[in-house]
Amino acid sequence: MEDSRIACLVTGCAGFIGSHLAERLLARGCSVIGVDNLATGHRRNMAAFAEHPDFTFFERDVCAPGLVAKARTVCPRLSHVFHLAAVVSVPYSVDHPRHTMAVNLDASVSLHEAAREAGLRAFVFAGSAAEYGETATVPIVEGAAGPDTVQQSPYGRAKFLASARIAASGFGVSLRCFNVYGPRQSASSPYSGVISLFMERGLCGRPLTIFGDGGQTRDFVAVSDVVEGYLLAAGLTGPTETPLAGIFNVGTGHSTSILELARLVAKLTGNDREPEFLSSRQGDIRHSVADFSKFAAAGFSPNLSLEKGLAILLDWQRLQKG
Ligand code: UD1
Repeated sequence: MEDSRIACLVTGCAGFIGSHLAERLLARGCSVIGVDNLATGHRRNMAAFAEHPDFTFFERDVCAPGLVAKARTVCPRLSHVFHLAAVVSVPYSVDHPRHTMAVNLDASVSLHEAAREAGLRAFVFAGSAAEYGETATVPIVEGAAGPDTVQQSPYGRAKFLASARIAASGFGVSLRCFNVYGPRQSASSPYSGVISLFMERGLCGRPLTIFGDGGQTRDFVAVSDVVEGYLLAAGLTGPTETPLAGIFNVGTGHSTSILELARLVAKLTGNDREPEFLSSRQGDIRHSVADFSKFAAAGFSPNLSLEKGLAILLDWQRLQKG
């Protein structure tokens, strides 16, 4: 199908990953109906495409029923749903488990069912590495999360249950992203990703703070590669151009220790302060790296190295500071 005939619903379009996805879909010639309640998303994230003629924005909560029907009134040829709207803060989910379940599980299941009933072509859900709990052995395969897995938060639990429902239905795909980083990721909350926090501190000449000994490792994947993963999962790119079904890990397979990351960021930002070592964060996973061979077999090939990805992020963060 030509991209100019494709119409996509992107929930969470003002968020970090959702805004990059919406921008990329529009650049390909797709029409995009974006939905966000702006609880944690920001209008500034949509600045690059808000005025695009093929973009329609609804400020709306994803829990409000009738979203697919509403999107079809704007664009009757709606074909693809990318569902990224969610309660994104893990600590918030611990304090507000019911609200988290309502948004991350119930609303996701309803939207998925509506997409299926409407006969849409593809449904792509933002799963999470948080679905794996603490005990998975690395590199982590998709089968490492099962009914007995104890997730560390309602956030992880809700994402797991939604992914499982989607996989069992045979329609749609859940992408379990590992540690995603890049421009537009917030650096202002204490729960922001380590890369944005390090970059921000590095640029301000403040010491980087390392929780524990810094030997813990993560699989950092650039948002641009993640967006390519979403297109592939929806059948918009890839060898067969068929939407995928099931659950797929999205990572790079490379593990980087927090100490290594701190060194890279310090060098890149020219920050010569010694890092500050603080006590370990409660519940911190020691090692997390994706086995993404299942997604690779479907055509996924992340191509941005951490060094290059950090350089892109640095340019962006500098630009924000003016
Ligand atoms: C990530 C997700 C989280 C999810 C978890 C499960 C983010 C922001 N968080 O947590 O939602 O539940 O995966 O897979 O993507 N660190 C420091 N100094 C800092 C900040 C962090 O040393 O200033 C360390 C942390 O202790 C941790 C590592 O860096 O060991 C990564 O932290 P973070 O970016 O918060 O991600 P995860 O803990 O992997």
